[in-house]
Amino acid sequence: MTTTQDLIAQEHQYLMQTYKRFPIALTKGEGVRVWDAEGKCYLDFLAGIAVNALGYNHPAVRATIQAQSSGLIHTSNLFYTRNQIELAKLLTAQADLDCAFYCNSGAEANEGAFKLARKWGQGRYEILTAQQSFHGRTLAAVSATGQTKYQQGFQPLMPGFQHIPYNDLDALRQAISPHTVGVLLEAVQGEGGIQPARPEYLAGVAALCQEHQLLLMFDEVQCGMGRTGKLFAYQHYAVQPDIVTVAKGLGCGFPIGMMLAKRSVAQAFEYGDHASTFGGGEFVTGVALTFARMLTDDGLLAHVTNMGQLLAARLHELQQQFPALIIEARGLGLMAGLQLEASVSAGDVSTALRENGLLTATAGGNVIRFVPPLIIQSADIDEAAAILAATLARFA
Ligand SMILES: Cc1ncc(COP(=O)(O)O)c(C=O)c1O
Repeated sequence: MTTTQDLIAQEHQYLMQTYKRFPIALTKGEGVRVWDAEGKCYLDFLAGIAVNALGYNHPAVRATIQAQSSGLIHTSNLFYTRNQIELAKLLTAQADLDCAFYCNSGAEANEGAFKLARKWGQGRYEILTAQQSFHGRTLAAVSATGQTKYQQGFQPLMPGFQHIPYNDLDALRQAISPHTVGVLLEAVQGEGGIQPARPEYLAGVAALCQEHQLLLMFDEVQCGMGRTGKLFAYQHYAVQPDIVTVAKGLGCGFPIGMMLAKRSVAQAFEYGDHASTFGGGEFVTGVALTFARMLTDDGLLAHVTNMGQLLAARLHELQQQFPALIIEARGLGLMAGLQLEASVSAGDVSTALRENGLLTATAGGNVIRFVPPLIIQSADIDEAAAILAATLARFA
């Protein structure tokens, strides 16, 4: 039998060392729990980094996979297939946008948005993004990302991006130039530390975009697809984007990304301007369609809102219990974070939580990030809060 230690040794030998993995080999999952090779069970508030929206082994996902597996998996975009059209119809209607482009990841969805913005801009090319933002790891996406740690070693970066302080409308106003074509923001910054945008900020951004004929673009890769209790996180705000990118949770574990846009913008793309071999395959869009229908038809969004309120309440209780450790509890829906004092490392706390059976991720600014599957129940949240209380007590 291959042990975890064997796997770790072989991973070091055969895989490029780009990921600092936890010393755990996961072997199975059910609902909101996963098990490692030694049989230890973990309550999963990480969910494949905000991907496994329906947890593990969900009956609706399983049924769709079974049905799709005997149908078409891939056809190429040289043919018409049904699921990709149904999914685009559903999501564009929900976003009050008109049409979609399919790809395979968040970075690729953002790449599509950059290309579309440049083509639409007819010479205007600069996109304003936020400091502490994260938009992915392709060269253009790291150039768009407002964190130098992801850019070091990869210069020269792609020109055409300017990073402005988040939630600072004056800074945005001052950054606009004749070259500016649009603004790309996360309504809730994820990797940057679970930072929701202020309502007056986004309203101001939308007004500036109107005034200067700039594209308002939202990166909903992490905060979208129901995670915050609305289908898209920007829908908590009174704004209407021109372009929206989604990925992560959309495929419930299968790779898929999408860019949604207004027709007046999307029309800038002509035949051959953009493409993706795997984009919008019949299989993966079938799974995403099942999930999107659950969000829009089956009350899953209301469940996320309720569970998000409970999670926020528990995190605020923890803040009161450990005022010397926790600076702030914040988030929206099931995208939550605890910002810790500098004296205690979020990484160390996350490691201790893992040892105590709770999987979490960290995020920028010394934050413990909670992005559980959307099917989480109140008993799971109470259990997580109890593990957090016991673990934080060791750091107090
Ligand atoms: C907001 C945001 N945009 C883009 C990405 C990149 O997505 P992917 O890793 O699928 O390329 C991420 C990934 O964490 C993200 O959080």
